[in-house]
Amino acid sequence: MKKFKLIITSLIVLFSVGIHSIEANQKVENFRLNDQLGNSHELFYYSDHEALVFLVQGNGCPIARNASVRFHELEEMYSGKKVKFFMLNSNLQDSKASILEEAASYDYKLPILMDDTQLIGEALEITRTGEVFIVDPKTWKVAYTGALDDRLSYENQKKEASQHFLKDALDQVIEGRAVALSSTDSLGCLINFPEQRNKAEHKLISYSQDIAPILIDNCTACHRKGGLGPWAMTDYNMVKGFSLMMREVIRTKRMPPWHADPSIGHFSNDRSLSSDEMKKLVHWIESGSPRGEGNDPLLEAEISESVWSNESELGPPDYVIEIPTTDIPATGVVDYKYHFVKNNIKEDIWVKATEIVPGDKAVLHHVITSFGEVNLKGPRKGRLNFRTMKGLRGYAPGITTNPFPDNSGTFLPSDVTFEFQVHYTPVGRKTVDSSKMGIWVLDEAPEHEIFTNSMINSRIKIPAGAKNHQEFDTMTVKKDSLLYSVLPHAHYRGKAMEVSVIYPDGEEEILLSVPNYDFNWQTSYDFKEPVFIPKGSKLKQINWWDNSKQNLANPDPSVDVYWGDQSFEEMLFGAFMMRHVKEDEVVSSQTSENYRASRED
Ligand code: HEC
Repeated sequence: MKKFKLIITSLIVLFSVGIHSIEANQKVENFRLNDQLGNSHELFYYSDHEALVFLVQGNGCPIARNASVRFHELEEMYSGKKVKFFMLNSNLQDSKASILEEAASYDYKLPILMDDTQLIGEALEITRTGEVFIVDPKTWKVAYTGALDDRLSYENQKKEASQHFLKDALDQVIEGRAVALSSTDSLGCLINFPEQRNKAEHKLISYSQDIAPILIDNCTACHRKGGLGPWAMTDYNMVKGFSLMMREVIRTKRMPPWHADPSIGHFSNDRSLSSDEMKKLVHWIESGSPRGEGNDPLLEAEISESVWSNESELGPPDYVIEIPTTDIPATGVVDYKYHFVKNNIKEDIWVKATEIVPGDKAVLHHVITSFGEVNLKGPRKGRLNFRTMKGLRGYAPGITTNPFPDNSGTFLPSDVTFEFQVHYTPVGRKTVDSSKMGIWVLDEAPEHEIFTNSMINSRIKIPAGAKNHQEFDTMTVKKDSLLYSVLPHAHYRGKAMEVSVIYPDGEEEILLSVPNYDFNWQTSYDFKEPVFIPKGSKLKQINWWDNSKQNLANPDPSVDVYWGDQSFEEMLFGAFMMRHVKEDEVVSSQTSENYRASRED
């Protein structure tokens, strides 16, 4: 029997020849992955730790299951130290659901990073589940790789380990000493990385037929001349020049800018790449971004030069409202500007879409657009009267400007005043901003009026240094409604968000999870199918903030932070775009007179 086992082991060793493996001292590049609970982890976020320890997990592997017990014990043992323990799952065959099941059966409490594209496991050259490795955040190098200890072997385990490879190495890393034994043979279940064996074929990925079309579909809307992106994907040479950076932003999920958990909800404006697209791009880049045969679709693509993103679908806007010109200094904090502009449209209209085009994208931070009647007296003299006030889509990078869905619109009476609340952030050079709003009009009165409900919790307090501070708010929906989109909002310390509905029977359903919130992008998440919210339900929004120094966007980790307009203050805010299922009054008979009458009671 013993002999038999030896043979198997040597067969496996033989089999492993030619398979690369993770190596001690190799550099680990940054990446971002979601765990089984939907939290997002970026490797470099943990730069304040003394060591990061990974166990390669895979469902159904006896060695990985067995090693996990000791791995959890070690985590417990080092809980007073700045050591972070992760599991990493790169298995082709495992899904979030099956990982959750395995975690429940084997009592895994650690974050299991789900490498569903295999791009991270492949680049690290991990080979087997059950393998462990330590990353030293001081150097981002692998300090140890191999077996956890010498207790386990195939179909056999000793009662006690006599060699504690991982623990010894970990102590040495923490003490800043050289690791004496930095690699051992690992054993466990081989992971199938089919693409690793296809490396020769990656050179044949066609720029012309595979790569450029992905870029045209997913990137050039912004990465074009005059677009939002900092560089234009004009041709092959530009793409090749930026290709390593493209690989980095794909691995860290910075680009395309889309921050929702892909396993929850479906959104019509989803900008994320599919798993196949990510793999194609990264494999093509890793094989040197070859030009190959064929034309250059980027040179031929009809990339819109219009300033209006709606123009291709809706034509030029019917009306353009100019937002007054503002001088922006080179540095400092510019107070919020409130611009009031009399509506110059001579008739009552139903708005199909609005879009704001920034005069200077670099400094225009956001615009909130409202309209209504101006108070002639009182403390809010000169500002809009709350009773008459309504909103239109504003501006922030990433905000959707799609036309209102489903035979719906917003009624805009002729003689109202627009209020543009504009926030500028100086960027080191003086400039002048003159932004404008385009309005597209519906030919006929729609059946439904769209409105926006706001979730506001202004009682928030985010303690200095807190890494994961949570607050929430709810609002009750009074009539049967359809929910079209949600824009959950926070400022620089915003870390994650979750939006759910609690039905009248108490059941809760998560509609949107944003595990990786980025203040630079104010995305409104547009549901593919509107969500029916029955009367009496509650909408709930949870925000998490990171007020620690590890949050690189944090303006000051040493202060408690409260609600406030400025980006160095914070918000728990959400804009919920909805309509009622049944209108009380016939929406199409809306006129200036009853618009006002309905708001004077
Ligand atoms: C909605 C607009 C938008 C889309 C779509 C978009 N980008 Fe970007 N991209 C930006 C903006 C704005 C920046 C600069 C700010 C930032 O880095 O977050 C940027 C930055 C980048 C950078 C980093 C440049 C640098 O040197 O820091 C790369 C690389 C990049 N994008 C690649 C891509 C790729 C590849 C795609 C498509 C798969 C894509 N982007 C899709 C807007 C976009």
